[in-house]
Amino acid sequence: MPARATLAKRRADVAAMFDQVAARYDLLNSLTTLGAESKWREYVVAAVDPRPGQLILDLAAGTGASSRPLADRGATVIPTDLSLGMLSVGKQREPDLQFLAGDALGLPFATGSFDAVTISFGLRNVEDTSTALHELRRVTKPGGRLVICEFSTPTWAPFRAAYHAYLRTAIPALAAVSSNPAAYSYLADSILSWPAQRPLADLMAAAGWQRVQWQNVSQGIVAIHRGWA
Ligand SMILES: C[S@@+](CC[C@H](N)C(=O)[O-])C[C@H]1O[C@@H](n2cnc3c(N)ncnc32)[C@H](O)[C@@H]1O
Repeated sequence: MPARATLAKRRADVAAMFDQVAARYDLLNSLTTLGAESKWREYVVAAVDPRPGQLILDLAAGTGASSRPLADRGATVIPTDLSLGMLSVGKQREPDLQFLAGDALGLPFATGSFDAVTISFGLRNVEDTSTALHELRRVTKPGGRLVICEFSTPTWAPFRAAYHAYLRTAIPALAAVSSNPAAYSYLADSILSWPAQRPLADLMAAAGWQRVQWQNVSQGIVAIHRGWA
């Protein structure tokens, strides 16, 4: 694991990057995912299965785009994020949600607080995946579930090659005309270096999650992992 000072510096850099893109984040998201994002969010809602009366943590919630469909099912959702810029844009767009500043590596919640915890397109951005998975486990009630929605590795080799070529060429091309090229490079690099489906499942199991399983979506561009506390 990197030294504490290195982690703190990386965390500050990530928060600053999301602060800078906050106002355009939702639009950029739709563009870079070619509109597939809303379908992916439907899978997350089905996996979390939110019910009225449940308390759900949406970690790395950003502007609340991942929290909204969960709250619409009647659960109480706590969108939590490191970037004050993302939270502030979120609060303007979704004033009824209870946004909270918090770090995945030291969550500001008591042990066993939540019926379910979820993180969409956020775990890849957290500097220490294993610590975040342990923290999510700590704040989940016994029997509660974790749902992770994250970019992953397409399973069919020819499609995987084309997708990786897209990440290596189209995303840098967008970066070249963007006001924040570093954010696009970071997006492509972080997806390409992220663990595939099984290694992520192994990390979840090592953090104490049980019955870990995953579902590939869009040929494995995205995977939705589930585990139980
Ligand atoms: C790509 S956005 C995802 C936002 C939202 N979940 C969605 O699906 O659109 C990733 C978010 O992770 C947050 N993040 C990165 N590191 C974090 C940490 N250590 N603790 C909490 N949030 C973090 C960033 O601030 C950013 O808002």
